Amino acid sequence: MKILITGGGGFLGARLARTLLARGQLNGQSVRALLLADQQAVPPDLQADPRVQTRTGSLLDQVTDLAAWRPDAVFHLASAVSGECEDDFDLGLRSNIDSTRALLDAFRFAKQVPRFVFSSSVAVYGPDPGHHWPGVVNDDTLPTPQTSYGTHKLICEHLVADYTRKGYIDGRSARLMTVTVRPGRPNGAASSFFSGIIREPLAGEMSICPVDASVSHPVASPGKTIEGLITVFEASREAYKGRTAMNLPGLNVTVAQMLDALEAVAGPQVRSRVKFERNAQVAGIVANWSQGATAQRAANLGLMPDTDFQTIIRQYIADCEQSGLASTALKGLRT
Ligand SMILES: NC(=O)c1ccc[n+]([C@@H]2O[C@H](COP(=O)([O-])OP(=O)(O)OC[C@H]3O[C@@H](n4cnc5c(N)ncnc54)[C@H](O)[C@@H]3O)[C@@H](O)[C@H]2O)c1
Repeated sequence: MKILITGGGGFLGARLARTLLARGQLNGQSVRALLLADQQAVPPDLQADPRVQTRTGSLLDQVTDLAAWRPDAVFHLASAVSGECEDDFDLGLRSNIDSTRALLDAFRFAKQVPRFVFSSSVAVYGPDPGHHWPGVVNDDTLPTPQTSYGTHKLICEHLVADYTRKGYIDGRSARLMTVTVRPGRPNGAASSFFSGIIREPLAGEMSICPVDASVSHPVASPGKTIEGLITVFEASREAYKGRTAMNLPGLNVTVAQMLDALEAVAGPQVRSRVKFERNAQVAGIVANWSQGATAQRAANLGLMPDTDFQTIIRQYIADCEQSGLASTALKGLRT
């Protein structure tokens, strides 16, 4: 099987690539070649694998080449994130909508019909005065996005569904919950602090939480998220049901519960490195997000949320230790 991952140099794209290479198969077929396309360089461990090829540059410039590679499987993860889209309207349109449409058209014109998973987001949901807003969203909640990013995701979900209806791709869209704990540095996502308030204190750094401790949100570990993307890919059309997007499972937690879990795992000194300083822009975006989510369609495919937030933190610590990053990423745990 030949697999294309757009955004293959990013957080989830690289993790998905490592998981697929370690599994050696997808949907019962051996992973013969992996093409990672990204505007940023792909991590060296992936570049070193003989099954991996890379393309570096803007997706919009690469789509014809990517379709000509004739992948059997596509995970379309490349995307500008929420904060970037709020700051630069044109960048968001280009990276998210124009690139996705061009990619889909490239497969249409190449008469290549790959199975195609699109990474959508819980950001498609938001309170709209014209509709009942449940706060905790489910697969049937009407998506009324309140950000440009959420709007792009919803538009692309419908493009994926319509290109599937026409037989140009075999598409599915999975709405990812906020993935935490994300390694590395803060990114441009408004949700970045959901990782920062855990990651930075563990590294011995102060972290600013821009929202109130009572804010509640659905989150998922990187491991559960990757499992979700692969399961959605492998589901038969009958099991997936229809063409519309489904929620991936989320653990509904408040910021206070996240910090309690941090204290339980790492101690009060680590927790004390989180300070609350309201940021009006971030708090405004977060106020329009769902406070929780359910995922019945995903449960029907056997997908369950993380059990608790302490387990998510312990997974992050284990990941840092395995990847040789513990001396810096967990510096605060040892002092
Ligand atoms: N991480 C989360 O919490 C989360 C939550 C919901 C949805 N998602 C979605 O999952 C996907 C992966 O997220 P992530 O956390 O790995 O993000 P990420 O920012 O780490 O990775 C995205 C990658 O896409 C690349 N990219 C962006 N625009 C591009 C373009 N125009 N051309 C080529 N490459 C481009 C970036 O360079 C980056 O490496 C995204 O579609 C994101 O919207 C993520």
